[in-house]
Amino acid sequence: MEFHVSLVGRKDLSGEIYRQVRGAILEGRLRPGDLLPPSRELAQRLSVARTTVVVAYDRLAAEEFVTARVGAGTAVSAHGGPWPHQTRRRASEGALRPLPVWDSIPLSTAFVRRAHFDFRTGLPDSSFFPHDTWRRLLSRAMRSEAARGGLYGDPGGHRGLREAIARHIAFARGVTASADDVTVVSGTQQALDVVARTMLAPGDRVAVEDPGYPRVRWLFESLGARVSGVPVDRQGLVVDALPRRTRLVYVTPSHQYPLGVPMALSRRRELLAWAEKQKAVIVEDDYDSEFRFADRPIEPLQTLDTSGLVVYVGSFSKTMLPALRLGFVVTPPSLRVAVHKAKQITDWHTATPLQAALALFIDEGTFARHIRKMRGVYGARHALITRALSDQLKEHLDAIPSTAGLHVAALARTASVEAISAAVRRAANAGVAVQQLARFAVDGPPLSGLLLGYGSIPAMRIEEGLRRLRRCLER
Ligand SMILES: Cc1ncc(COP(=O)(O)O)c(C=O)c1O
Repeated sequence: MEFHVSLVGRKDLSGEIYRQVRGAILEGRLRPGDLLPPSRELAQRLSVARTTVVVAYDRLAAEEFVTARVGAGTAVSAHGGPWPHQTRRRASEGALRPLPVWDSIPLSTAFVRRAHFDFRTGLPDSSFFPHDTWRRLLSRAMRSEAARGGLYGDPGGHRGLREAIARHIAFARGVTASADDVTVVSGTQQALDVVARTMLAPGDRVAVEDPGYPRVRWLFESLGARVSGVPVDRQGLVVDALPRRTRLVYVTPSHQYPLGVPMALSRRRELLAWAEKQKAVIVEDDYDSEFRFADRPIEPLQTLDTSGLVVYVGSFSKTMLPALRLGFVVTPPSLRVAVHKAKQITDWHTATPLQAALALFIDEGTFARHIRKMRGVYGARHALITRALSDQLKEHLDAIPSTAGLHVAALARTASVEAISAAVRRAANAGVAVQQLARFAVDGPPLSGLLLGYGSIPAMRIEEGLRRLRRCLER
């Protein structure tokens, strides 16, 4: 069918194509089974690079709005997208529309799709989690909570948990913080939300790594910030490229997401000096540094900061389970009260029984034991994947060396972004879930390559999964 896309005056061309096709599907202008124009043809029609269209189509495919079949083109999915109720909303639910920013923010489907060979990033292996111990501690916490009357708690968090976190990060990461500096939140996502609420006015400039973690970018955009992608090289964020008058910069210095490089010490010092000059806040997301398989741990920016410019964020999504929604923020004293207020107006506080159970889990030593065990489990998977990358996959991929975390990034040696997209689609048909690097571009050109996560794929499936992936890269 003839489908009209207009890019006049638009900047984020890929995003715009994505939004317009998505809008057409949700509004029923494109129906299940309708074919989208081939990417080459649409690119020619719009005078854009083919990659621009491919990245938009991939995003639509990842969110299940469209299905790409090799040789048959890209068609609107049978169910017209993952949330068919949205198609009907306009007619049946009245005229109210959310702010336009929400059109460009996808609803993640990471929680529904599972592949037999699952190389997606950021998912820990729940089969090793000590569920029985956790259940016991949770029920103990529920009992003492019932005795206390189940009333509202401190927005800063459960005292015992804040103390346990302060001890843990001092020991594991060298972060010096008192329990007062720690605020318990419902995961990194909320940590960034409360920090942004305390520090940003609409229109303020925020810098994020490019390529980078998309969810933080969407969060800042949803709050009205102007978000700029700042390039990352093999030493981490390129500090010289930070835009002037940036108010907040978000970084993942221990294990850059998604490339996996640690930020060089010289860069960390440069970044701190820059923030001091700009009076900007640095948000340090230390999301998976507990899993380090070689080398000395990277010193967090927080420990190098002498001026109170760094907000340090940690999450229990990798070390425990993402379903628990537990994380924390370490704030400089000048922000502490405002962060507590922001947490209070957002959701009062994170569920007290969960916090109390986690405090017991840490205090009893189960948390440290679980991390030690998982370091071994993930270390073995990391070794299998890095070996395969330097062996059976070496003609196709060039691994970016990394010695920590739950994924490895690899750049394509010769394949274009389009070719990698096609390989990812073939892999999906072969039962292999893998993400391509191009999806993490912010403002810069999409990188051609793959991310290989090993958090949720058992070691015994890695070899076969990579064999299948290799076949998909060869075609
Ligand atoms: C860069 C980064 N930060 C943080 C997280 C964890 O987020 P949350 O604590 O909201 O689950 C992830 C999870 O994938 C991540 O990739």
